[in-house]
Amino acid sequence: MTTPTVAARTPFAIDVEAGRTYWWCTCGRSAKQPFCDGSHKGSEFAPLQYQPQSAGKLWFCGCKATANPPLCDGSHKKLAP
Ligand code: FES
Ligand code: FES
Repeated sequence: MTTPTVAARTPFAIDVEAGRTYWWCTCGRSAKQPFCDGSHKGSEFAPLQYQPQSAGKLWFCGCKATANPPLCDGSHKKLAP
């Protein structure tokens, strides 16, 4: 499996709406981070669908190394410099 591009080394704080569908970019190539803009086309990556149960601020992973996608789990702190 190809390693995703590190889009950012820190998470993105996003105010989400309950029940709305979000498409998190897994490939790291989107120009609209942390969400998919279609740039994954032609690669083995596909966006991850996410529907928050409640409204509020969430921290979406920008490094693409989280073990709890699409949210940041702190894995960005272990990235190689
Ligand atoms: Fe990255 Fe679509 S642009 S998954
Ligand atoms: Fe990816 Fe925090 S930004 S784990």
